[in-house]
Amino acid sequence: MITATLRPMTTGDISAVLRLEKQLFGDEAWSRAMLAGELARQPQSRHYLVAEEDGVIAGYGGLLVAGSQGDVLTLAVAGHRWGQGTGSALLEALLAEAARRGCTEVFLEVRIDNARAQQLYLRYGFTQIGVRRGYYQPSGTDALVMRKGLSPDSEDAGPAAGTARPAAGTARPAAGTARPAAGTARPAAGSAPGGGNARASRGSTGPGAAAGRPGGGQ
Ligand SMILES: CC(C)(COP(=O)(O)OP(=O)(O)OC[C@H]1O[C@@H](n2cnc3c(N)ncnc32)[C@H](O)[C@@H]1OP(=O)(O)O)[C@@H](O)C(=O)NCCC(=O)NCCS
Repeated sequence: MITATLRPMTTGDISAVLRLEKQLFGDEAWSRAMLAGELARQPQSRHYLVAEEDGVIAGYGGLLVAGSQGDVLTLAVAGHRWGQGTGSALLEALLAEAARRGCTEVFLEVRIDNARAQQLYLRYGFTQIGVRRGYYQPSGTDALVMRKGLSPDSEDAGPAAGTARPAAGTARPAAGTARPAAGTARPAAGSAPGGGNARASRGSTGPGAAAGRPGGGQ
């Protein structure tokens, strides 16, 4: 069985990640500058992972942490690897990191027409809490805002009860990669770059630039 290994994303991964970005997100793909800006905020307020298979990046995901709130900023898997547990493994690792950093809730946005990703998030206990109209540009597609409560000592990072996949996931975290670096500072609530309450963005404004928590502007 082919196994993908999870490890932290570095600047050396940007070109490969951008290729996947264009394939998977088209007009909504992040730019090199946006991605580099995100990686520059590691480990303080960001945590980006790649899933690697035989030295090739098969997927990636990113987390923003601001105080007790986390945001899944992005999650993507190369088309030929869909359905093999890579997306689940990445999401699980991001949720585990959020819990380790003391987050009590994690948010994300997902396109209203992205049933596959929504299924994945539902399986991991996210629930819909709102809609952001016209969030994704240039298409103007709405985003569902989803939230999951976390308690650091529980097993909340895993899939919801009764929703486990039939086969064991084929992706596994590399030893030690999921831990934040020693001395990682947790940003105070509201201190995230991009104007405070940074919000996961596949929107035109890019990561960290869409201000406002669910509840406002929905
Ligand atoms: C959404 C996305 C990240 C999911 O990645 P993935 O690697 O296919 O995710 P998984 O394999 O972990 O799970 C997807 C499905 O495969 C199934 N699956 C996973 N491993 C399996 C296995 N070993 N055996 C059988 N089924 C399996 C899961 O049950 C899941 O099905 P479900 O969603 O109907 O419950 C991927 O489809 C993607 O990159 N899409 C384009 C980008 C995108 O939309 N990103 C989200 C932005 S918000």
